[in-house]
Amino acid sequence: MLQRIAKPVLLLVLLVLARQAYATEGMWLPQLLSGLNEKEMKGMGMKITASDIYNINKGSLKDAIVSFGGFCTAEVISEQGLLLTNHHCGYDAIQKHSSLQNNFLENGFWAKSAVEELPNPGLFATFIVRIDDITKAALQDVKPGMSEKERQSVIDRRLNDIKQTVRRESWQDVMIKPFYEGNQYFLFVTETYRDVRLVGAPPSSIGKFGSDTDNWVWPRHTGDFSMFRIYAGKDGRPAPYSKDNVPLKPKYALTISLKGVKQNDFTMVMGFPGRTTEYLPSEAVKQTVEVLDAAKVDMRDAALKIIDGYMRKDQQIKIQYAAKYAGTANYWKKWMGEMQGVKQTNGIGKKLQYEDNYRQLMEANPVWKQKYSGVLDSLNLYYSQIQPYAQARDYYSELVKNVELFTVGDRLITFLNDVHERGEGQYETMREQFLASMQPFYQNYNAKVDHDICVSLTNLYAKAIPARYAGNEFAQIWQEHNRDGRTLSDKLYALSGLTSPEKLKAFVQQPYNTVVSQMWTDPATRLVMAMRKGFVDNVSKPLADIQANINNLQRTYMQAQMDVMSSKKAFYPDANSTLRVTYGKVDGYNPRDAIHYDFYTYLDGVMEKYVPGDYEFDVPARLIELYKKKDYGRYGVNGKMPVCFIASNHTTGGNSGSPALDAHGHLIGLNFDRTWEGTMSDINFDPAICRNIMVDIRYVLFIVDKYAGCTRLIDELKLQ
Ligand code: ARG
Ligand code: ASP
Repeated sequence: MLQRIAKPVLLLVLLVLARQAYATEGMWLPQLLSGLNEKEMKGMGMKITASDIYNINKGSLKDAIVSFGGFCTAEVISEQGLLLTNHHCGYDAIQKHSSLQNNFLENGFWAKSAVEELPNPGLFATFIVRIDDITKAALQDVKPGMSEKERQSVIDRRLNDIKQTVRRESWQDVMIKPFYEGNQYFLFVTETYRDVRLVGAPPSSIGKFGSDTDNWVWPRHTGDFSMFRIYAGKDGRPAPYSKDNVPLKPKYALTISLKGVKQNDFTMVMGFPGRTTEYLPSEAVKQTVEVLDAAKVDMRDAALKIIDGYMRKDQQIKIQYAAKYAGTANYWKKWMGEMQGVKQTNGIGKKLQYEDNYRQLMEANPVWKQKYSGVLDSLNLYYSQIQPYAQARDYYSELVKNVELFTVGDRLITFLNDVHERGEGQYETMREQFLASMQPFYQNYNAKVDHDICVSLTNLYAKAIPARYAGNEFAQIWQEHNRDGRTLSDKLYALSGLTSPEKLKAFVQQPYNTVVSQMWTDPATRLVMAMRKGFVDNVSKPLADIQANINNLQRTYMQAQMDVMSSKKAFYPDANSTLRVTYGKVDGYNPRDAIHYDFYTYLDGVMEKYVPGDYEFDVPARLIELYKKKDYGRYGVNGKMPVCFIASNHTTGGNSGSPALDAHGHLIGLNFDRTWEGTMSDINFDPAICRNIMVDIRYVLFIVDKYAGCTRLIDELKLQ
């Protein structure tokens, strides 16, 4: 057909196609949609306006979205402050309320009435009241030629002034963040509620169905949701937990659509994406995937194998290590996907081509040439200089994170340093706080598991890090133990005072000065001190110096790209845990030659994956029964129960729990993941294969209503 289309029309089609190629990339600032995106969004099918999404004069969609604990997103879905987020976002809270007797992780939890809703100290929900562009004021005192340090200090002074004088209510907070690598600054007035209670969660065999095997994978069949409720003081304002608090009456609650979506339908996701780096030079992309991802994967591979072995044998360890395992495995797998995705889509080649393009345009314009010539080359050079230090940093931080004896040692050092700063007179009070803060840690700690991880990871660390980076003190200790992780670990776990809460207590019960001097005699603290010293002296100092140069150039390069490439590309700021809107279309993709993935999954797929008794793929009897009877109520379509779907929304970590909205701004699903082939979207979004994964809202409601029978929650919702 193509050849019969008249030329001008063809050109138009091509232009539209070219535009679509990047139309779905980007995490946009909600207050800028009307100027930058509204037209395109409407062109893609959106039926509402930008001011329905962000409006400071009346309730709008943004008033239903919260940052959930700072690590996920959640949305208000009822006039009584009911919150919807992912199961994996509520996981920690659910785990803390679980025990072997009352295993809510395993069996699910449903508060049958308000009094059964469970408080979660430390958990919070933050609304965005208003976003202001304060770039001009923030950069007012910046002068050309200032060092990075000087520049930052004049900016910080300005930001402080702005924070003091900004218009806000007494219960509201202010947060300022740099955007576009520090070329722009935005201020956020926020409202944080700290009484957030657990309302409901499905069993893990639904909420975490497929577990780590299916994590980051499409086709997916996970009912990844849980429900919480925001409580406020009687005046509706944020208040610390009290049994007298009342459910929040929100400014805006989402309407839910049971209609589902079809291929190419417009969708939009609003939430708090954490971090992306889309504007790196090619050298940095190469380093990220070939060196840094590889280092972290290497360490986690080893730690995870050991934990998995224990979890499969021991029910107690399974509960203790479930959340830790999931956390460690999550990025381990993501980085592997990223490495593969960049390779498969020729991400580095495409960056190089983009850089060629940029160079040509930049050099053809005398003003740009004067300002930006050499910036990209210097940046690439600094990235190659930083590589060995960045690699050493990643090995070191993975070691201290995964060997928990080292994590405790590290926390002990930080605590003793704090005492030193505040005065030794404070020691006793601070000691009690420190011990109390370590209590939850030991509840989920098993020294045998940790010992085995230590054997493996110290061997890897010593092999991967050039001796000069690990430092002389580490070399000495390593030598004393025959350069062998097992000899070293056997001694550490037999003799150290950090392996149990009782031993730790006895250790810090001594006078401050004795504790400090024994830090070099206890074998574990001695090793941690040695490694920390090695890291500070030989890695973090040079790393920080080179990083300052990179930050400076990266900011200039960002501005340069925005000046030079603006006709070719729309520029959105990298994710930085602030509220964003991303939009795309429901669509499948072709992951590899001859394979096509559809965009919807159904309960039939859950049953295909079902392995009775398996810890990842078991299915609860009640769900099987509903499936057999096709008892889907109003949530099924044509005798089938939709479970998950994918679209081309540009999301990242932190977007979990974000609402998936249709063209009318109605809730159709809950974002929780991305596809394996597309996890490189954090450094190199490719609309051909990058997809976000959402659980269909009808599956969520089917589980609440038909599976759990918690109809009191369904009665709160606005359904369409
Ligand atoms: N990959 C998703 C995200 O990054 C989900 C993680 C939770 N699920 C899991 N099986 N670990 O957070
Ligand atoms: N699963 C991620 C989250 O928890 C979302 C993603 O990385 O796509 O935020």
